[in-house]
Amino acid sequence: MARVQFEHVYKRFGKVEVVHDISFDIKDQEFMVLVGPSGCGKSTCLRMVAGLEEPSEGEIWIGDKMVNGVDPKDRDIAMVFQNYALYPHMTVFDNMAFGLKLRHFPKAEIKKRVEDAAASLGLEALLKRKPKELSGGQRQRVALGRAIVREAKVFLMDEPLSNLDAKLRVETRANIIKLHQRIKTTVIYVTHDQVEAMTMGDRIAVLNGGLIQQLGAPQELYDHPANLFVAGFIGTPSMNFFKNAKVVNNDGETKIALDGIGQVIVPEKYVEKARAVAGKGNLTFGIRPVHLEDATLVRADGVARSSIEATVDVVENLGNELQVYFMTGGQNAVATLDPRSRVSVGNKVQLYVDSDHIHLFDEDDGGNAIF
Ligand SMILES: Nc1ncnc2c1ncn2[C@@H]1O[C@H](COP(=O)(O)OP(=O)(O)OP(=O)(O)O)[C@@H](O)[C@H]1O
Ligand SMILES: [Mg+2]
Repeated sequence: MARVQFEHVYKRFGKVEVVHDISFDIKDQEFMVLVGPSGCGKSTCLRMVAGLEEPSEGEIWIGDKMVNGVDPKDRDIAMVFQNYALYPHMTVFDNMAFGLKLRHFPKAEIKKRVEDAAASLGLEALLKRKPKELSGGQRQRVALGRAIVREAKVFLMDEPLSNLDAKLRVETRANIIKLHQRIKTTVIYVTHDQVEAMTMGDRIAVLNGGLIQQLGAPQELYDHPANLFVAGFIGTPSMNFFKNAKVVNNDGETKIALDGIGQVIVPEKYVEKARAVAGKGNLTFGIRPVHLEDATLVRADGVARSSIEATVDVVENLGNELQVYFMTGGQNAVATLDPRSRVSVGNKVQLYVDSDHIHLFDEDDGGNAIF
């Protein structure tokens, strides 16, 4: 059992600094996801916990031990990589047992641990096979098994699902979640996939350019993204952004006016914060596709106070919802509409904006002004 802490960690390769002053605290047994685009420093952070890279500055703690300078094998961690690199000439059993044999565990203990891990991963029937006789998903499970048998304090996983096809990815994702519920170790999981991050993480750290943009529970990041980057990164389809938004006072109500698009009422809870940035020139309005609706399906008074005008480009019917791509004020945007909507391509429609879920960003620093 162990918490993991980063204290003002920097990493430089030569003169290039790729991780800038990262501090966070992963609780014992927590499933923490590091997510962000390619090159943002996710693997570097993980490799510093593993001891495969040393921080240039700052401290990393595992449990109550500062591990800077500690050899990887003395850190009580187990790591699963994207390329799971099983030994091709060894059976599944031997692949899983290998690390324990190296550490001179007694034979009976090795057998017990491998069989327990195989049972929890559904690999009992495959223990005698070689990796080439396994599917991609089975190989990935062996790689997980190899890590589990170590019974390490901290599990590190670097994009462990990215070699699997879409269906297997979803299955294995669920397997890892179940596994964590059972073995309750601290997990640090790296991915560039925000869906994986949202579905797996107790908490998520969103990284960009070697900086933590926001750290919080999945729902927190979705509902209250701290800045434009997080807002655009978390959620599919991505949040729509409209530049040149203005906070205005209209008939005693605070509204956001969107040039050539429409206006949106600011709910009471955000009025004070919206007014505080009213004088700013560079505001960007944000609304998620699911928070737009075909105005003909919404009560008229709501529509009058908050709606935008759109020209429909493409309608994708997914059965349970319509994904509608539209143009408004010269910009492309997306709305997820009720399947009862009758909007059709080329038509001008009114889209109701659910103002409880609006976002307003200050372009100067990208921060969410009504966070
Ligand atoms: N050994 C190294 N020497 C020099 N630069 C490196 C080294 N390792 C990583 N980098 C650089 O550090 C930055 C962060 O790399 P890192 O591998 O941590 O990114 P990542 O977030 O894991 O990306 P990906 O999603 O593509 O795996 C990148 O710009 C990368 O080029
Ligand atoms: Mg990486």
